[in-house]
Amino acid sequence: MIAYNFNSVSSILVEDGAARNLGATLKARFGCQKPMVITDMGLVRLGMVGPIMHALEEAELHPSLYDGVEADPSEKVVLEAVKAAKAHGSDLIVGFGGGSSMDVAKLVAILCKGAQALGDIYGLDQVSGGRLPLVQVPTTAGTGSEVTQIAIVTTGESTKMGVSDKALLADLAILDATLTKGLPPHITAATGIDAMVHAIEAYTSKIKKNPISDGLARQALLMLGANIEVACKEGDNMEARRGMLVGATLAGQAFANSPVAGVHALAYPLGGHFHIPHGLSNALVLPHVLRFNEPVAGGLYAELAELVGAGDSAAALINWLERIADDVGIEKRLRDVGISHNDLPMLAEDAMKQQRLLVNNPREITQDDALKIYEAAW
Ligand SMILES: NC(=O)c1ccc[n+]([C@@H]2O[C@H](COP(=O)([O-])OP(=O)(O)OC[C@H]3O[C@@H](n4cnc5c(N)ncnc54)[C@H](O)[C@@H]3O)[C@@H](O)[C@H]2O)c1
Ligand SMILES: [Fe+2]
Repeated sequence: MIAYNFNSVSSILVEDGAARNLGATLKARFGCQKPMVITDMGLVRLGMVGPIMHALEEAELHPSLYDGVEADPSEKVVLEAVKAAKAHGSDLIVGFGGGSSMDVAKLVAILCKGAQALGDIYGLDQVSGGRLPLVQVPTTAGTGSEVTQIAIVTTGESTKMGVSDKALLADLAILDATLTKGLPPHITAATGIDAMVHAIEAYTSKIKKNPISDGLARQALLMLGANIEVACKEGDNMEARRGMLVGATLAGQAFANSPVAGVHALAYPLGGHFHIPHGLSNALVLPHVLRFNEPVAGGLYAELAELVGAGDSAAALINWLERIADDVGIEKRLRDVGISHNDLPMLAEDAMKQQRLLVNNPREITQDDALKIYEAAW
């Protein structure tokens, strides 16, 4: 590639405990008065949101809370959050949580500012009216949503739509690894593998692969690979938690500019039809898509194998990934998560709708190929 753009967030603060100073940080950096925190009820119940609201009040701000985000957020959730932010007169939006909360926060920041409706901004570069200041605080180390320009919305029973626009890049991402300490092992594993997939797919992306994303993807895979097993086994090992959180952000920066491909394309139908979490869906199809891609992308996979010290071939990278999946105890087969063999043709048909992602895959995937990959994963 001879000409490319690289976009990312303008500021990243990496500091253990930074969320406890959120009020002072927002006041100093943005001069806001009425921030709205967007999160999910799970985090409220875990007692993680109370201290954040307290930190905002302590700085004499007038915060408001929207805690209705659900995994794979729907349009209804987005519109409800927009209504709440407008009623509050919010002047800054904070996304606090996993990819679901951060994605909703992006859309609320856009829809509160301009005159556009949600339906107007789906697709690529459709945002025209600016947005409210936006700060992202991830509590999972996975999606990289804190540094991506994409938000994913569930629009029907099993369909998702994306909004992709530079306007969705936050003003500030705060990486406070203490927030990820309580992440249970199975969520740590699934979200961590999601981040590893971002790095691998960015590194082998067909059209927009570029040297800046390559560097970020390599460093991401190194950090994630070195820390995922410890983070799953010793949840309060802060060094491992920091490595995962920064690794996931680097992978996010990489794939935001060199997009994900076949693994994500085949993972999405699993989430859509069977409500399998995003990271686990990726983990289930990962080795099988990589084996399929090997004739074309084998050289790049071998480079990554060497990087992580797994060997010098694509097979070595795949073995390394399978060993990690084993070690962190994640489900390995589609049959383990309630998918029957009869469902596979429907999944293959559905995967073909992910052309946005399939075009980035190093090797073309036909519907027949997709079926064979699902069969191998079953
Ligand atoms: N914008 C992007 O670039 C991008 C990329 C990939 C995926 N996504 C989207 O992100 C979503 C998935 O995000 P996710 O995997 O981060 O999960 P999530 O945001 O849906 O959260 C999953 C669960 O983890 C819990 N949780 C989060 N942090 C926790 C913590 N520290 N301790 C204990 N529990 C915690 C939440 O309460 C929730 O129940 C999907 O909607 C997907 O479509 C977005
Ligand atoms: Fe992902």
